[in-house]
Amino acid sequence: VPPNPPGPPSFTGTKLVDDSDHPWQAPQSGDIRGPCPGLNTLASHGYLPRNGVASPSQIITAVQEGFNMDNAAARGATYTAHLLVGNVVADLLSIGGKTPLTGRDFPGENATGISEHGRFEGDASLTRVDDFHGDRIAFDQGLFDQASTFFNRFGNGFYNITVAAELRFHRIQQSISTNPEFNLMGLRHISAYGEAALPVNLFVDGRKTGAEKGQLDMDSALSFFKDFRFPSGFFRAAEPGGAQGADVIVTTHPVSPGRNEGAGNYVVDDSLGSVLDPCKFYTQFVNVTVRDLYPNPRGVLRRNLNLNLGFVYEALGDPSCPQVFPYGQD
Ligand code: HEM
Ligand code: MG
Repeated sequence: VPPNPPGPPSFTGTKLVDDSDHPWQAPQSGDIRGPCPGLNTLASHGYLPRNGVASPSQIITAVQEGFNMDNAAARGATYTAHLLVGNVVADLLSIGGKTPLTGRDFPGENATGISEHGRFEGDASLTRVDDFHGDRIAFDQGLFDQASTFFNRFGNGFYNITVAAELRFHRIQQSISTNPEFNLMGLRHISAYGEAALPVNLFVDGRKTGAEKGQLDMDSALSFFKDFRFPSGFFRAAEPGGAQGADVIVTTHPVSPGRNEGAGNYVVDDSLGSVLDPCKFYTQFVNVTVRDLYPNPRGVLRRNLNLNLGFVYEALGDPSCPQVFPYGQD
């Protein structure tokens, strides 16, 4: 039976996380990495299994321990990913591509790993190209160079919420004009804004205070985005955090959820919800997205889907949003 979600750690202040128990090691042959610089870094420092395969509980514990991600954000992202691309029977998730290490995949082929395009991974990433344009997983130097011009133009050489707002909008405009298959619906509308804010809150050394807080320098950014490595002697954030500031990014240059019908032709579509309507996202995620992946689950599969759906609902933390039960209640 999948265990209940881990709670927050007892100590939630800053501390050295690039410590002697967690030395960086380059991935070895067979080790899996994916599109998330946060999870990749945790695997390369041994906060996650270095092979890149982990249970949801291990992921929640690792993002809290290594980055001080707050408990609700950790639970929400992790169980959402697990339902989309994990093996819910084996209770294992790949932080990259599909692998036999997550166990027998049945029915269907849903345990694809986090790299699967169009589930959690999506378009207009900051440092990875769109699937339509090439390798959606690999660090892209050209996109990092573009980002660095935004660090300089809007952030005095640093990445902060102001830079995030400009770069997020620019990447969306680039995808709208060049990617005929561009999609920014539902979860991707939420994660695109969240991922732009995460580096401000969680990639900045937790000892920084005052005007230096929330300012990510270029070398540290490169260390995380390219090498999946804590800057030497890195201290995690001083308080639990996640996507704080995403609301500012959204309101600076609002873009409605939607998708392209041909390059340059962006069609607004909020049928899967958006960052502006998390309850609608939750409801559609359960009733449409997860049901499409698992139309008729039985036995252990159904039990584990129901448990994980409950964990997603609890992470939402909105009692005014009704819980939905596509597979009945146990
Ligand atoms: C991107 C999953 C935690 C930082 C991504 C992507 C996925 C993902 C699937 C790729 C989306 C895309 O851009 O196409 C997860 C899950 C987490 C998690 C399931 C579990 C809690 C974290 C943490 C951090 C982080 C703790 C930071 C400390 C980022 C950033 C990106 C990203 C900055 C954007 C990369 C880019 O646009 O180039 N994450 N993530 N994530 N994640 Fe995570
Ligand atoms: Mg992407």
